[in-house]
Amino acid sequence: MDFLEFKKGVYRQFGLNLEGYKEKQLKRRIDSLMQGRQCQDYGRYLRLLVENEEELARFLDKVTINVSEFFRNPEIFEILETEILPVLLRDKPRLKVWSAACANGAEPYSLAIILEELGPGMKHVIEATDIDRKILQEARRGYYEARFLKNVSRDRLKRFFQPEGKGYVINPQIRDRVVFRYHDLLQDPYGRNYDLIVCRNVTIYFTMEAQNLLYRKFFEALNPGGVLFIGATENMLRYRDLGYEKISPWFYRRADTKK
Ligand SMILES: C[S@@+](CC[C@H](N)C(=O)[O-])C[C@H]1O[C@@H](n2cnc3c(N)ncnc32)[C@H](O)[C@@H]1O
Repeated sequence: MDFLEFKKGVYRQFGLNLEGYKEKQLKRRIDSLMQGRQCQDYGRYLRLLVENEEELARFLDKVTINVSEFFRNPEIFEILETEILPVLLRDKPRLKVWSAACANGAEPYSLAIILEELGPGMKHVIEATDIDRKILQEARRGYYEARFLKNVSRDRLKRFFQPEGKGYVINPQIRDRVVFRYHDLLQDPYGRNYDLIVCRNVTIYFTMEAQNLLYRKFFEALNPGGVLFIGATENMLRYRDLGYEKISPWFYRRADTKK
């Protein structure tokens, strides 16, 4: 079986569409997993995934890469806090926010913390989605080892977390502000009327076509004037064609006026 057939098989068996992922990168990661299993044939490896849950979990882990941390790139979160959110909040006191590909929840909880600080008690809608069901479970629990919290100030740690074991658990006040659900950015329909969409450090794994499609769908999902927040190392080259205006390299506003 060749790699293309393998991808089709993964889709058939597990509903995971690997078509939109950059092929070379993806293949390298899968080949290294196969090597670890002394497996040289994609057909045999696919059977192994079907028969062995542990192997499937390892495979999904490798494909999804769910590294994250609170306030990842703190200097950019600072811009969000001091420049982007105040403008959005001026027009609308209760925002609808989507953290797309939220991994362990550090990202949507960071958003919830900032929003709580900017307007205590305000009930914003914060949705957080990912393709990895295991990581979504962890996110819902809200427990983090110290390494995920290195950008959390002492004040925030005291105010929004409780020590537990070797780490910290997020306070229910913040935890309950975020609704987690499964969503595949490459296959599932997108929601509507978001004021802020945060999609960071996932499009780097997707092909250029898939990236453009995503940015187009985010545009449709945003309210006019809404903002898309992307990863520190990403850029949206065709932002003008897609209808965005660039606020800074990481923030793009849906530029059309209200209908
Ligand atoms: C590196 S993490 C980024 C986490 C967070 N956004 C951040 O920047 O810290 C990438 C996440 O994308 C998720 N992911 C990968 N493919 C996806 C897809 N097709 N749809 C939704 N999420 C996906 C992975 O499960 C993983 O949790």
